[in-house]
Amino acid sequence: MSILWGKPDGGQEKPNNKVVLGVGNPGAEEWLRANLTGYEVAGSADTPREILALVQKTGAGLVILARRGPQGGVGGLEALIPELRTKAPGTRIILIAGERDREGQALLDLALAHGVYDVISCGLGGVITAEDVLRAVKKPATWDDVAALRSLVPYGAGGGGERIVKVPEKVVVPEYRPSTLIAVIGFKGGIGKTTTSANLAAVFGLKYKNRVAALDLNLSTPTLGIQLGATMEEILNPDLGLLGIHNDPAPGPLAKYAIQKHNVDLLIGPGVDGRHHFLPDESFFVKVLEQARREYSIVVVDTSQAIDDLSTYVAMTQANTVVLVADQDRQTLVQTRGFLEIAQRLGVTKDKIRLVINRYNPKLGDSRPAIEDYLGIRASALVPEDRAAYIRATEEGRPVALTQKNGPWHTLARAVLGEEVVVEEPKEKRAFGWLRALFARR
Ligand SMILES: Nc1ncnc2c1ncn2[C@@H]1O[C@H](COP(=O)(O)OP(=O)(O)OP(=O)(O)O)[C@@H](O)[C@H]1O
Ligand SMILES: [Mg+2]
Repeated sequence: MSILWGKPDGGQEKPNNKVVLGVGNPGAEEWLRANLTGYEVAGSADTPREILALVQKTGAGLVILARRGPQGGVGGLEALIPELRTKAPGTRIILIAGERDREGQALLDLALAHGVYDVISCGLGGVITAEDVLRAVKKPATWDDVAALRSLVPYGAGGGGERIVKVPEKVVVPEYRPSTLIAVIGFKGGIGKTTTSANLAAVFGLKYKNRVAALDLNLSTPTLGIQLGATMEEILNPDLGLLGIHNDPAPGPLAKYAIQKHNVDLLIGPGVDGRHHFLPDESFFVKVLEQARREYSIVVVDTSQAIDDLSTYVAMTQANTVVLVADQDRQTLVQTRGFLEIAQRLGVTKDKIRLVINRYNPKLGDSRPAIEDYLGIRASALVPEDRAAYIRATEEGRPVALTQKNGPWHTLARAVLGEEVVVEEPKEKRAFGWLRALFARR
């Protein structure tokens, strides 16, 4: 089992044992270097920026941060933790939050708000030893520990002296339970939600092998399985996917109900033949999404065009990042703009949204800048129409992105993980382009 990746059954994978330290205390650092047996300390740094760069450069599986580690103290960690979460979602973070004074409490709130559950904290006047850190690294706790820790932290940030009093002397919660939940939404049937979900999941699968789940929560037209290459037999198997989970009196890990395609654990909607009664309530979707976040680093959720569908609503409001698929059609754009106002009230603020303009043609309809201006969001991907490529991809169950080295889906994946990306206009496909190029050289 790979402790660092937190996936219970990622047995075939070699654990990533590279560690980056941002503990700020030479004594503690030296001790950790000497005692982290089985781990390779890939480096240490003092500023949030250097720590992030080091994690990205080395691809470290673990980063250990202390309250006084990165320069800037709590402020530095406030900047660093969200960045690490989005730019290195596969990296486990252990945060030594220290005493539960006002600052320690604020750190705990911060950590939990960003899904960092490896927090080491102690009561007032307590001491955290290097052994505690080692214990956190090596001995994963359970989800129940995280729930217990959550219950100690009142909702809302900021610490008040009176609520510190009742906390136990020491809390060590060492389980990496990330992760990034991405909901793909769009307001028109056939606009490309499933295509976007399939391509994103496939691109993530290349890098975060077997730590990626793709969920089909479009119950009315569940086609994600088809796009990712599931066979008809797999799609209609009532023991798999959401139906399998729903009908299991004691559901196990999601991998049990998944179909593995392109390094992605695919959890499809119910079989499309209408034989099965499937009418879950909101709590079912909430539970499945929570479980997916515990068991995978990246979860991509395909949804339906109807935002008021329960499953779509839950996915959208639970997501860290919402990928919004639009096209150049006025009708979609007006509807999309209206939605953005409602979304704001639901907590889906614009900074959480990444825009895809599908079937983009710079020569037709509203231009990209006009669309960006109208919606108030920059596009993270412009996907040209290519009927032959997408028909072939669906037939082969192999998303277009897997036949490209780079391209809009790869750019989108980086944007979803919080990178600033340069979005290129699609290259025009010119007939006899090679011939022209040949003559141009002379
Ligand atoms: N850029 C594109 N170029 C050519 N074909 C495309 C493109 N994007 C999507 N398609 C095709 O359009 C069809 C509809 O796409 P998709 O299933 O992704 O839409 P959707 O929004 O998920 O639809 P639904 O509302 O039914 O869930 C598919 O056959 C897909 O292959
Ligand atoms: Mg779809």
